[in-house]
Amino acid sequence: MSEPMRYTITAALPYTNGPIHIGHLAGVYVPADIYARYQRLQGKDVVFVCGSDEHGVAIPMKAKKEGVSAKSLIDKYHRMIKDSFEDFGITFDNYSRTSAEIHHQTAGDFFVRLYNQGDFLEETTAQLYDEEAQQFLADRFVTGTCPNCGYEEAYGDQCENCGTSLNATELINPKSTLSGAKPALRETKHWFLPLGRYEDFLNEWILKGHKADWKPNVYGQCKSWIEAGLKPRAVTRDLDWGIPVPVDGAEGKVLYVWFDAPIGYISSTKEWADREERDWEPYWKDKDSKLLHFIGKDNIVFHCIIFPSMLKAHGEYILPDNVPANEFLNLEGNKLSTSKNWAVWLHEYLDEFTGMQDVLRYVLTANAPESKDNDFTWKDFQARNNNELVAIFGNFINRVVVLSHKYFDGIVPEPEEFKTIDEETLGQLREFPEIISDRLERYRFREASQELMNMARLGNKYLAEQEPWKVIKEDEGRVKTILYIALQIASGLAICSDPLLPFTAKKLRSMLGLKTHPSTPKTKLPEGRTLHWDDIQKPKALIPAGHQLEKAELLFRKIEDKEVQAQLDKLEATRRLNETEKKSVMPQKETISFEDFSKIDMRVGTILEAEKMPKTKKLMVLKVDTGLDQRTIVSGIAESFSPEEIIGRKVTVLVNLAPRPLRGVDSEGMILMTENKDGKLVFLNPDEEDIDNGETIS
Ligand code: 2FM
Ligand code: ZN
Repeated sequence: MSEPMRYTITAALPYTNGPIHIGHLAGVYVPADIYARYQRLQGKDVVFVCGSDEHGVAIPMKAKKEGVSAKSLIDKYHRMIKDSFEDFGITFDNYSRTSAEIHHQTAGDFFVRLYNQGDFLEETTAQLYDEEAQQFLADRFVTGTCPNCGYEEAYGDQCENCGTSLNATELINPKSTLSGAKPALRETKHWFLPLGRYEDFLNEWILKGHKADWKPNVYGQCKSWIEAGLKPRAVTRDLDWGIPVPVDGAEGKVLYVWFDAPIGYISSTKEWADREERDWEPYWKDKDSKLLHFIGKDNIVFHCIIFPSMLKAHGEYILPDNVPANEFLNLEGNKLSTSKNWAVWLHEYLDEFTGMQDVLRYVLTANAPESKDNDFTWKDFQARNNNELVAIFGNFINRVVVLSHKYFDGIVPEPEEFKTIDEETLGQLREFPEIISDRLERYRFREASQELMNMARLGNKYLAEQEPWKVIKEDEGRVKTILYIALQIASGLAICSDPLLPFTAKKLRSMLGLKTHPSTPKTKLPEGRTLHWDDIQKPKALIPAGHQLEKAELLFRKIEDKEVQAQLDKLEATRRLNETEKKSVMPQKETISFEDFSKIDMRVGTILEAEKMPKTKKLMVLKVDTGLDQRTIVSGIAESFSPEEIIGRKVTVLVNLAPRPLRGVDSEGMILMTENKDGKLVFLNPDEEDIDNGETIS
């Protein structure tokens, strides 16, 4: 089969209830952009679309919490997300939004077509209803225990723990997220997509057709869903936020957000085509077009099962050729979370690390969660930058350009006869385009980034071994050859780094005075000699002798420890804030009578001796003077105090607690304590120094 020339590349539409963070970037947008840029560089006809997903149920919820209208919330985040993508160099051909008229029209028409074709089941069923809030509960409006994995915080549409897609009524012990109430059941009419009708098609298309080329994580999820049997899925909701269902008898109902959102890819393509005066249809209907969805793993069911069933039902559309979903990225060991502010926000990164987009692109690619969840740490960010981008890539380019200026006025020297090492080095250089292409074509972006670094390593090693700075003293001719070869490698890097490190590639091209095939949309081929990816494989020079270089500039800068520490401090402050917020006040215990209270005997005492209990982390054995006697009390305070600091301390002791053995030592009472904000125990001891041991507390 011949290579398709037309690519329709989609990246998951982000919800407009928060900014973009590194998890979104690593999972979806960086790989999607690398792929789109790469295919444009290959001369392919690419449309790369995205947009804001503005009908998510979390949006009106968040707006209510912030006391703003849902419209102002989506406007704020749409702008912010769009701008930060642009600043980060994500080259969407179009970034739309699902509140756009064109999308309402497209999604509504899509629904009507399926409705008219009889592709839906229309059913009145009992659904969860919050009587206090007077609202039906689905999706994020209800949580409960997942029937599949037992996770207690599963949502009404999906369990975030095991990824299972759910109907709200399947949750065990459901609870309304609006009022906390236990929902009642109330009848309501909805339209359902009977996914069971598509089982044979999905079996053939995915399980038989894509076993070899889809990623194992994606294929595996699809297999288990299909094999478990697919139930009808409601595609409408009783809500006032979303696209009104455009058929009679559907007043007060809107399209389910996951019905309209993927259609957003089509609307975004239409919006682009209108603007560019192009035809959108071939990108979605021509069998030769290659449709690719870049998403995170929580979106697999929607893009591999539900949306393709919708497309199939519609009848005119092509199906995705691949859905290269990534796993999740964590941050410093914890799950990224918008609500907990546990994130590296793109707009903040762009402010704090000005001009360093490629560093983040590189780190997120080199450490991408392609086959398993991965962790982003600031230490790794610093190490990848300092040890790879600065020490290998940047160092090589800087040396070759600076030396060319120093010895030959920035003019590419005419080489002398090549030695074996020169031929071998050029031979290795010529292998890289194919290697990197192979990795990118197979969505192995991590490997592609490492191969790019290997290409820079080749140059670095060549220079380090050939030592032109020494050879120049006795053999200027040989140095001409060395720098000529090194400049060919630098030029190869200017081409191959473009999809992965586009800002760097641009700087490098201008330093070398080269023109290359553009990886950005709508860019015309530059006039004059233009380098293509494949040119690296040819024996012809990439940068010819006699060509004038521009002046050297540094491609990367070192990241200092203090910059990393500042980021870690920021996260630590977030962690503390979350801890404080998490600590809700314990509810009051059952009421006791005065008689019960009067049974409690608390006395002022003094700690006379303290010793850590061997083989335990928390326990300390204390001898306490209670005024009544001197007794042994075992207390769980060893993580908060050392024995020395508490000897002689006045404490409050519950003296008539029945003795109990703790690790073989009888504890005869309890010292009263509480916890401070840092989780450290503190004594509830009398401030007054001159209270005698044995005084009662009442
Ligand atoms: O999970 C999410 O963030 C969704 N907003 C993705 C939607 S992708 C597509 F279907 F639009
Ligand atoms: Zn689950």
